[in-house]
Amino acid sequence: MSGLLSLLITALFALLLRKYVASRKKHLPYPPGPKPMPLIGNILDLPTDDVPSAYVEWAKKYKSSILHASALGSHIVVLNDVEDAIELFERRARIYSDRPEYPIRKLMGWDHNFALTRYGDEWRYCRKITQEHFRKEAVKNYHDVISQKVHAMLDGLLQSPNKFEHHNKMLSVSIPMKTMYGYDVESINDRCITVTDKSLLLGSPLFLPGASLINIFPILAFIPSWFPGASSRKIAAEVKQLTEEVIQAPMNWAKMRMVEGTAVPSLVTHFLEKKNTIGASAAEERAIGDVAYTVNGAASDTTISATGSFLYFMAVNHGIQKKAQREIDRVVGRNRLPDFSDRPTMPYLEAIYREVLRCRQPLDMGLPHCLTEDDHYKGYFIPKGTIVLGNIWAMTHDEKSYPEPFAFKPERFFDEKGDLNDDDRILAYGFGRRGCVGKHVASATLWLTFASILATFNIEKAKDDSGREIPISDEYQEFGFISHKTPFECSITPRSHGHRQLIEEVNLLNK
Ligand code: HEM
Repeated sequence: MSGLLSLLITALFALLLRKYVASRKKHLPYPPGPKPMPLIGNILDLPTDDVPSAYVEWAKKYKSSILHASALGSHIVVLNDVEDAIELFERRARIYSDRPEYPIRKLMGWDHNFALTRYGDEWRYCRKITQEHFRKEAVKNYHDVISQKVHAMLDGLLQSPNKFEHHNKMLSVSIPMKTMYGYDVESINDRCITVTDKSLLLGSPLFLPGASLINIFPILAFIPSWFPGASSRKIAAEVKQLTEEVIQAPMNWAKMRMVEGTAVPSLVTHFLEKKNTIGASAAEERAIGDVAYTVNGAASDTTISATGSFLYFMAVNHGIQKKAQREIDRVVGRNRLPDFSDRPTMPYLEAIYREVLRCRQPLDMGLPHCLTEDDHYKGYFIPKGTIVLGNIWAMTHDEKSYPEPFAFKPERFFDEKGDLNDDDRILAYGFGRRGCVGKHVASATLWLTFASILATFNIEKAKDDSGREIPISDEYQEFGFISHKTPFECSITPRSHGHRQLIEEVNLLNK
């Protein structure tokens, strides 16, 4: 055993040395960043806490919005400026659209998640299916499901307002489950939710760069789990089992409903029906399962995060909430709930939607892109294989583009004439060919959720026993790639008896 150990340590050392020697070859300089240590590079410098603002501090320190760091021979470039992100991720999309290869991904079964798949045919096939289903026009097909689930959330808030996080989760999970598989999630304890949660809880920490040594030394994927650093293989195996269930169980459920003739139209049943008439290969069936699984994961946590931010911003910005409610009352009245046809006539609500996603992005560092060829930019060298991160939070908190960037101010999206300005690109959805393919679904869901909650409820800070408001901190916490508002208390009460009745009536009709 000790012979094998020393062989492996020698192999790891040789690998590092080769990478180190290669990195010393003459070329244009890398973008500015902290000085790397021999062999281990900047592994000790990389921020792990409040990552986006740590990179803003780096930008000030190194006087550059493009930053470079290296870790054990791998290169990382961080873009803090939107112009650089557009130039590299979009104009040079051919070479900046890959995702990094983390060996742990396959071990956990997450290679079925096409948001994390390498840039190639497999990704192209899945992206094409989702693009067809989620383009702006096609999203109208989802309006009924979205409305039904948003109305159910209002009912939940009516029954148990203190459990708003629970209702938020139900909303965000139930829309993709219904649209992908035709499955109605009945409760937060539904196995499809608990298994997904467990796989994410175990798997997300391993997936972050540097979290598992397997991500740095792929060789560890092939050696026994007793070897130091390879223990994450055990956890990965458990995650893989859970992931298989997350993919297969709802697929099998949809197939059973088709056999019984009780299937509800969904992406999966639509595909399986087509398969029955014109045929499809096992690989195509696997791909559709992967698409549905990916969408399920990509849609739920991001929507939970954005809706949580909305409730927080409303609770701490009373005047803005009242202004939005006045707009809703003017356009919608008090005898019905908002619907999608109201959207173009409610600019202030539109500005609130933009401002929520400007202030807080569910993925504040986006998802990592990866460069497939050596490149030069602004006099710097960016080697093939570099992981390129867009610091979306930095781009939306740049004082020049957004004065008073830390203030929640929907008014910033209006011009001098009082019309909505043309700053309608939501950077929170990322960039280029890997940009969020579900952004129109997300936009429709968030807009209707915000409009419906504001139309019917007042959101305020909770009060303690002596009637004093309980302050809400502005803290966020990262879970995997996703940033969530830390838990907080708030009071959510119906605006009037009429609003309560309206919610009850609408939900009765939906049943
Ligand atoms: C507030 C809601 C959402 C936000 C902020 C968001 C944001 C993002 C971001 C930043 C990326 C990575 C972009 C990049 O690499 O540059 C992404 C990718 C993706 N999103 Fe979303 N997303 C949201 C909701 C959704 C929804 C509702 C769906 C599905 C209906 C979805 C499906 C996807 C998929 C499949 C990818 C991977 C795309 C690829 O790699 O080709 N997202 N999203």
